Amino acid sequence: MKKKFKFIDLFAGIGGFHQAMVQLGGECVFASEIDKYAVNTYYKNYGINPNCNIRDIDEKDIPKHDVLCAGFPCQTFSKAGKRLGFNDETKGTLFFEIERILKYHKTKYIILENVRNLVSHDNGQTWETIYVHLKKIGYRLTKDPIIVSPHQLGIPQLRERVVILGIYDPENADKDLNINFEHLRTKDDNSIFDILESKKVASKYYISDYEEEVLNAWDEFYKGLKETVIGFPIWVLYFNGYYKDEKMPKWKKDFIDKNINLYHNNKEFIDKWLKKYNYLRDYPKTYWKFEWQAGGSIKSLWDGIIQVRPSGIRVKKPTCFPALVAMVQIPIIGKYKRRLTVREAARLQSFPDTFIPDSSDQQAYKQFGNAVNVDVIKMAAEALFKYKDN
Ligand SMILES: C[S@@+](CC[C@H](N)C(=O)[O-])C[C@H]1O[C@@H](n2cnc3c(N)ncnc32)[C@H](O)[C@@H]1O
Repeated sequence: MKKKFKFIDLFAGIGGFHQAMVQLGGECVFASEIDKYAVNTYYKNYGINPNCNIRDIDEKDIPKHDVLCAGFPCQTFSKAGKRLGFNDETKGTLFFEIERILKYHKTKYIILENVRNLVSHDNGQTWETIYVHLKKIGYRLTKDPIIVSPHQLGIPQLRERVVILGIYDPENADKDLNINFEHLRTKDDNSIFDILESKKVASKYYISDYEEEVLNAWDEFYKGLKETVIGFPIWVLYFNGYYKDEKMPKWKKDFIDKNINLYHNNKEFIDKWLKKYNYLRDYPKTYWKFEWQAGGSIKSLWDGIIQVRPSGIRVKKPTCFPALVAMVQIPIIGKYKRRLTVREAARLQSFPDTFIPDSSDQQAYKQFGNAVNVDVIKMAAEALFKYKDN
């Protein structure tokens, strides 16, 4: 079948954009990535070797294309400009690499992706600079960055990202594009059970007896309280107020006061609990802090999503996984007492089950955690390709 359009994949990672573009009939004519593990995964899946630093590529050597895709790192322009002694505020940043390619190729469509806080980054200067520079080349853009998350498409992952869509149209560059995805689903319309593997998963994904023991202790704690909704982190160290110091910032004093109140409201039960579990002293400090972020929606920690973070244990409703990040925080599915598998991580990012992940779980989680959600990009690209002013 003849391909409908050609695209390039910059900062390609493992090809979230690649997946979306190919599903829409695109052909990849150039990709660039410097991480050797991501390069390897990309090659294994698409037969294209993206191994090159985009800074070393002459724009004239990039083949002609209709769509430029890039999930580029977010950097502060002014500081980078000053530090590197450039007058132009984008020189030296990775956005500049995109800018110089666009200046030369005048690519018809652009799809850029970035973290949610690009909007507020450097007091809004980062978005403003991107907007002004792309307009100057001749791109029509949306006035504000588009914020979109897979949960809006029924995928149980809350991962808000900025997507920047542009059409090369120098005569109308001053006219904003009118595209947004605000009308879609909300987080609570989703269920994490929709993407789980149905077969029994490898034993390495199950939590250890040790983890189960400490999570059971916290489950007992939650169930023993008079309160069901707790809007602040619980920290066993703070129950007796010992650490409160008048010089602390107000938020911290409030947080300690709330812990003291909780303790006094439930003193008899908590004293017994602390004694039974030796004040959690036999466990690392990671387990001393507990955040219940599931409101009154579930009755037990084992009905929720559990994250064992360096800063404590967190329990959430089983509607949406938090955005995938590094390996250490891979969420636990309470009901099955196991962590999300690599295949499930792939599904959260809408990669097909035929995708071959990195053979190291650690790399694979990291790569999916860095990737764009395929279905989000597909939806955004479809809206862009068929865009008409109304
Ligand atoms: C946020 S990730 C993008 C992931 C990608 N969108 C995906 O779906 O997998 C950014 C990527 O840019 C790559 N990168 C950073 N600097 C680069 C450079 N100078 N040239 C090429 N790739 C670079 C990083 O290795 C990283 O994999």
